[in-house]
Amino acid sequence: MKSKTMFYCTECGNELPKWAGQCPACKAWNTIVEQPAESKRKSPSAAAAVGERRGIARPRRMDEVETTRELRFATGMSELDRVLGGGAVQGSLVLVGGAPGIGKSTLMLQICHNLCRFAQVLYVSGEESERQIKLRAERLGVKGEALYLLAETNLEDVVEAVDQLKPDVLIVDSIQTLYNAELSAAPGSVGQVKDCTLALMNLAKGHGITVFVIGHVNKEGSIAGPKVLEHMVDCVLYFEGEGQNSYRILRAAKNRFGATNEIGVFEMGDGGLTEVPNPSEMLLSGRPQDTPGTCVTCVMEGVRPVLAEVQALLAPTSFNVPRRTCNGFDFNRANLLLAVLEKRGGLMVSSCDAYINVIGGLTLDEPAADLAMVVALASSFRDRPVPGDLAAVGEVGLTGELRSVNALGQRLSEVHRLGFTKCLVPERTGAKLEVPKGLQLIRVRNIREALAFL
Ligand code: TYD
Ligand code: MG
Repeated sequence: MKSKTMFYCTECGNELPKWAGQCPACKAWNTIVEQPAESKRKSPSAAAAVGERRGIARPRRMDEVETTRELRFATGMSELDRVLGGGAVQGSLVLVGGAPGIGKSTLMLQICHNLCRFAQVLYVSGEESERQIKLRAERLGVKGEALYLLAETNLEDVVEAVDQLKPDVLIVDSIQTLYNAELSAAPGSVGQVKDCTLALMNLAKGHGITVFVIGHVNKEGSIAGPKVLEHMVDCVLYFEGEGQNSYRILRAAKNRFGATNEIGVFEMGDGGLTEVPNPSEMLLSGRPQDTPGTCVTCVMEGVRPVLAEVQALLAPTSFNVPRRTCNGFDFNRANLLLAVLEKRGGLMVSSCDAYINVIGGLTLDEPAADLAMVVALASSFRDRPVPGDLAAVGEVGLTGELRSVNALGQRLSEVHRLGFTKCLVPERTGAKLEVPKGLQLIRVRNIREALAFL
């Protein structure tokens, strides 16, 4: 019965007869969600009684807790496994978020090919019919006798199908199309998305099923997107890419079983997604030669060094306040570097509009990219190209001094591997720095020295 539904606040648990924008008890906004009256949370005493029987409510000394290592299995896509922290964990719930059309369904369908060799996989889709999925699978060369398809959006039916089939892996495409008929809210609303995720979480934890859930990220606000689910699930992966270019980057925003700083790189082609094991080559392909305003740096994506090209364009401004735009680089950091370049480097950049771009859809959030940015800006300002075989690594401080960065040895070997012969680095580096043969280090103390070298 629809009228039996009720609402509660996810912040303080306050129960309300109807929905409200703000919780009257804790004054939090947008925290009221709907819940069916039948599945109302049990009173504490009842819950404790159930817990007692199952033996989970009693606190246990830490050394009594038995630790079996989590069971992991390879998905067959090593770039995905890397982002997951070394394979998927059995009984975990992984959310794969991304803009529509970026390739989430394709990625999930492709991993089925390998998973089916040792596991039973159920692919639930609310977006495409079974026929459409099969046609796509055939096009992608996905074969699997243990792959089951279900075009269904009703949560109850999905749970029942899972109970009957007992798959090892469940893929849900997408969480926004799934709905619980007991709730009056529309599919895709916060209440529905949270309720369905909770039900899938129970399937994952209760039956040891590994669940992959696809979630669309909305352009604006992302109200019912994966953002509201981030705290509920074990892993949150975002699949990103730029519309025109065929490269896709998978990154972890949260991972209960591993680090979150790894990226996986894919290329979308006619045959679906292919892995790109050497992202540096891809990111540097098509790099302009002998043009001012570009410089290569090396950033660490997890444990992997990746070369990135930084581009800057400075042009005399026709406004009172110069325009600055940044793509793939922190806006405030870029403004800071422009100020340092003016005060410590002596280049009058304040009268210029500055446009900054990082090639390949990469986001550089590491200070190690500072020096390359300064070099690219200066190169554009002076209209003189940076030597094509030069890379730059180093953090720039407010006085224009250069600071050392971590993992410099690894970065230098990657720089060398891709054919660079010179690298600008801070003068003070770790004592035991292994410099690859054939790579000349240009040690500079501050940006003035760096600019003088150029
Ligand atoms: P899809 O996986 O459906 O995106 P999502 O599930 O994230 O919405 O991917 C759709 C896009 O990928 C579509 O624009 C076409 C493109 N694509 C290819 O270029 N090659 C392929 O082999 C496939 C299957 C899709
Ligand atoms: Mg899809």
